Amino acid sequence: MRRTITLLSLLTFAAPVAGVAQQAAGSQAAVLVTGASSGIGRKIAEALAARGTFVYAGARKAEDIAELSKIKNMQGVRLDVTVPADVAAAVETVRKGGRGLYGVVNNAGIAIVGPLVEHDEKEMRSIFEVNTLGPWRITKAFSPMLIASKGRVVTISSISGILSGPFLGAYSMSKHAIEAFSDALGAEMAGLGVRSSLIEPGNYRSDIGRNTMAQVDVALARAKGTPFEPAMRNMQVAMGRYDSYPEPDSVASAAVHALFDPNPRARYMVVPAAGQAAVTIRKAVEELVQLNAGHQFTVERDSLVKLLDAALARVK
Ligand SMILES: NC(=O)c1ccc[n+]([C@@H]2O[C@H](COP(=O)([O-])OP(=O)(O)OC[C@H]3O[C@@H](n4cnc5c(N)ncnc54)[C@H](OP(=O)(O)O)[C@@H]3O)[C@@H](O)[C@H]2O)c1
Repeated sequence: MRRTITLLSLLTFAAPVAGVAQQAAGSQAAVLVTGASSGIGRKIAEALAARGTFVYAGARKAEDIAELSKIKNMQGVRLDVTVPADVAAAVETVRKGGRGLYGVVNNAGIAIVGPLVEHDEKEMRSIFEVNTLGPWRITKAFSPMLIASKGRVVTISSISGILSGPFLGAYSMSKHAIEAFSDALGAEMAGLGVRSSLIEPGNYRSDIGRNTMAQVDVALARAKGTPFEPAMRNMQVAMGRYDSYPEPDSVASAAVHALFDPNPRARYMVVPAAGQAAVTIRKAVEELVQLNAGHQFTVERDSLVKLLDAALARVK
């Protein structure tokens, strides 16, 4: 009977040997960035290539792939993270590249806007396909190479992975899920030398507002004459603001740290304004307090403070 090579058998038998082989080759480290055509992914791809990392830059449109391939240390790769055939072909391209794969940056993402009770099934599935299953699909496909290189997985979440506000509920759901993905992955892979980090950006300049506009128009038309219409008009204005936000250079710096620092952090909140940090931290603290309240195992205030001190000491 033909032996199926499962991830588990690779973990058990191949990882240490392949890891040593990868280091011995001393080749230029290679990193795959998904959604590298614009915005945050483009910045990360450019920052990596500029520091001498070889970048497999995932994109969907032929013109983007061609443009990315013109950049030194970069090869554009056709990669829609929802299409298994694209993912398999990308694995083959990277394998043929002969550099192995040191890191994956799960960046590709979309937004949808609207009241949760108004979204249709197709919209809900589309955001989870890209934002949640996309990173899982990519990480799974490249995991043998990442294990072989004792590499890194960096996943671009959002402060919406902590926050959950009106009319961005579906987006927040998809980003909350990816927070769980990265934590579980990090715990599963720790013994194999693979580290997993999250980046939680605030509002930065990108094409996300423009790319969401067609869906916003549909959602607004659907909300016409309902109590949601005024709020949806505000959301339309908010999504139009992404061109005016700061460039995401500090998000790219965090990705470089997560990929190459000897001590990558589990989470990097990167925001351009104090208010975005404050609202996110307040939400995390409020959630802690809500969890702790009103049951027989409530932790007293002094013990909570001790827990906080211990957690603070661990991240220093
Ligand atoms: N900008 C912000 O303020 C902000 C804040 C927090 C988190 N984020 C996150 O940052 C990531 C990048 O977003 P961005 O703001 O830079 O937006 P963006 O400029 O719209 O970039 C999104 C990228 O994802 C790609 N993409 C979309 N669907 C895809 C699919 N099915 N397969 C592969 N690639 C796909 C897009 O490719 P095409 O060009 O082919 O459409 C594009 O390259 C997302 O995960 C987003 O949630 C952004």
